[in-house]
Amino acid sequence: MDKLVVNGPNRLCGELTVSGSKNAALPIVFASLMAEGVHTINNVPRLADMDSAQRMLLCFGAEIDQNMKSQFGANWVVDTRNIKSGEAPYDLVRKMRASFFSLGPLLARRGEARVSLPGGCAIGARPVDLHLNAFEALGAKVEQEAGYVTVRAKDGKLPGGKYVFPFVSVGATENVMMAATLSKGECVLENAAREPEVFYLAEVLNSMGAKISGHGTSTITISGVDRLEPMNFTIPPDRIEAATYLIAAHMTGGSITLHNAPVVDLGAVLAALAESGAEYGIEENIIQLESSGDILPVSIKTEAYPGFPTDVQAQWCALMTQANGVSTVEETIFENRFMHVPELIRMGANIKIDGNKLTIKAKKSALTGAPVMATDLRASASLVLAALVAEGSSEVLRIYHLDRGYESMELKLRSLGARVERV
Ligand code: UD1
Repeated sequence: MDKLVVNGPNRLCGELTVSGSKNAALPIVFASLMAEGVHTINNVPRLADMDSAQRMLLCFGAEIDQNMKSQFGANWVVDTRNIKSGEAPYDLVRKMRASFFSLGPLLARRGEARVSLPGGCAIGARPVDLHLNAFEALGAKVEQEAGYVTVRAKDGKLPGGKYVFPFVSVGATENVMMAATLSKGECVLENAAREPEVFYLAEVLNSMGAKISGHGTSTITISGVDRLEPMNFTIPPDRIEAATYLIAAHMTGGSITLHNAPVVDLGAVLAALAESGAEYGIEENIIQLESSGDILPVSIKTEAYPGFPTDVQAQWCALMTQANGVSTVEETIFENRFMHVPELIRMGANIKIDGNKLTIKAKKSALTGAPVMATDLRASASLVLAALVAEGSSEVLRIYHLDRGYESMELKLRSLGARVERV
């Protein structure tokens, strides 16, 4: 199994181009199931999660060509003219929860879909009740048996309706929005997620002929259309990857120029970085950040967009271990998202966990290298960041988690001058 060996401390300096967004790309590649034809999807990040999505699409009968012109990203040509199956087996779904995104598109295209329930995952139970309740509210019949869920639309088309989400769910908003595009009537989603990835998905669907309005706000209205055309779309840059490298540069007292940066989507993270002493300038889609290495403590609370993203919480904890004072971190989205904390403590961090809140008492450069391991993607990224500033050698084990969401992280870090090897 691969691991990353990091020798610290490091000071990161240089330029990077942000890769395509994993969380935008996942629902978008599944949306290709909704229109018969040949789709072009550019700048798809080369990640283990995208490989899982590809396997899933192949299992439904899609054909996929990938053109990899450079070291990063790929252009996918997805042919969905021969979709034969509407069933997603457990073996594929269990590897990636986002496989559940196939349900909405298959329901829309075939009037029926049968997908394995995803089960729990490292960061909590992560149920799918909101997805299923919303499908029902739009007129679908939902049945569960033997670990599978079957969703059917009477006469092959959802009649339409209204669903008020009891709390914000990104995945459920996306799944149901996809199903609703080919409904017979009007569908209204209230308290819908406002995350940029929801917005991009709606934009792609509209470019295919869907009639979606209100995306980017908490009320999305979808007027059903009869058919969709294939898409030709370029995946926007990944705000979580961008945030991770900005934090890495700040933490190491370095400087970074990020090209193809999703400036608008990074509002809460950029505000927190500025508060913590980083200086940055923005020119169109380029962010230039400089850090003196003096990091001020900044407390954060994760929230749905436009609040501070839960996917950057673990990396923020690593940054705060280098601050000059006490900070707190509150996680409000997932119930079990502090797996990085015991490992950071093993490296010398002073962190107390109290329910969903952390108190981090920091003393700059207090971390020392150690073998560490995490059980989820962003927790693993947090450990790599900590290893960059820690004194001595660290081994970050089980980096298949990192490979799910970061394109060749060690190559990108090395291009910034970090001493990192994949072993
Ligand atoms: C997506 C992102 C993930 C991010 C998360 C929150 C993708 C592929 N993943 O995950 O990186 O951390 O948004 O921004 O885009 N919930 C329920 N019932 C449901 C659905 C969700 O209780 O049916 C709960 C979840 O357990 C969680 C909360 O709602 O506590 C938010 O989850 P959700 O927004 O749905 O996250 P995902 O779409 O799974």
